[in-house]
Amino acid sequence: MSRYWSPIVSKLQPYVAGEQPRIPGLVKLNTNENPYGPSPTALEAIRQAADDRLRLYPDPAATELRQTIAARHGLTAEEVFVGNGSDEVLAHAFQALLKHERPLLYPDVTYSFYPTYSLLYGVETVEVSVYDRFQIRLADYDRPCGAIIIANPNAPTGIGLPLADIEALIAAHPDAVVAIDEAYIDFGGDSAIPLICKYPNLLVVQTLSKSRSLAGLRVGFALGRRELIEALERVKDSFNSYPLDRLAQVAATAAIKDEAWFETCRKMLIASRDGLVRELEALDFEVLPSQANFVFAKHESQSGAALQAALRERGVLVRHFAKPRISEFLRISIGTDEECARLVSAFKEILSA
Ligand SMILES: Cc1ncc(COP(=O)(O)O)c(C=O)c1O
Repeated sequence: MSRYWSPIVSKLQPYVAGEQPRIPGLVKLNTNENPYGPSPTALEAIRQAADDRLRLYPDPAATELRQTIAARHGLTAEEVFVGNGSDEVLAHAFQALLKHERPLLYPDVTYSFYPTYSLLYGVETVEVSVYDRFQIRLADYDRPCGAIIIANPNAPTGIGLPLADIEALIAAHPDAVVAIDEAYIDFGGDSAIPLICKYPNLLVVQTLSKSRSLAGLRVGFALGRRELIEALERVKDSFNSYPLDRLAQVAATAAIKDEAWFETCRKMLIASRDGLVRELEALDFEVLPSQANFVFAKHESQSGAALQAALRERGVLVRHFAKPRISEFLRISIGTDEECARLVSAFKEILSA
């Protein structure tokens, strides 16, 4: 707290990102990065663009990237918004579309940036309780609201909702924007993008950080009807005209076009996830059903915090949230098969000690 701060600053609850230590040989399974690396064509696009043109500002509208994303999803570029990571896209959505007199609804166990943005932008919220093993019950959203945001699959649980449920939610709230945060959708769920043509109140947010393995590039996007995208553009152009630099625009465009790389990495990751779930279950973990590039798991006798600390001593990083209801769980990103094997052998050593 400082007398120089604007009054709101002391009230904020900033998001705490997973650590990014530089320890050689570390098995880093704590921030849901993709172990397989970006498309080689994306890297080549960066090399080709890294020249004197960097003295010029980039295209403020990221036109080619938006056209490429639009073409992939059968939409027009006018229905695509891009931002500096989906975090920025979400932040703009909170300000532009999710803030109303009536409250914004989201699950009480979900991506922890939602309460952070709500505080930042003064969004009235109701955190809707998930039930039993972190299931989202649609009937609980049947109440007056200004907007809804759901991460599908949810984070940090990895649990996905069927598309029919998502559609029912959108259809039940025609006067409210329903934002679906699909950061992890490519690892097992059905995207709501095909519903955009049917529902003017649907905004779908995706990222290149996970399934395209470009967390370091910071590119995310939102898809929806023109009316919704225009609101995001108005906020963006009141904030930063150039959120995506030249290198990010060309690399993201190349990555979206490289379907073969995307498919290969996605399938390898899903196969590794299935293998890791079996190994963890054999070690007496309860593993929630995951459609994401991570699993959320709880050991039958060891505490989450103790396991995280013991793994860290063995050079394996996973994420632990010291929060009510989830403090016994570990969120473990899926690595390569070798990394998963190192995790499992570290667990075996810890559990047999
Ligand atoms: C549910 C969810 N949404 C959005 C994001 C943000 O991703 P990025 O800003 O890298 O696009 C994350 C990152 O972990 C996430 O878990």
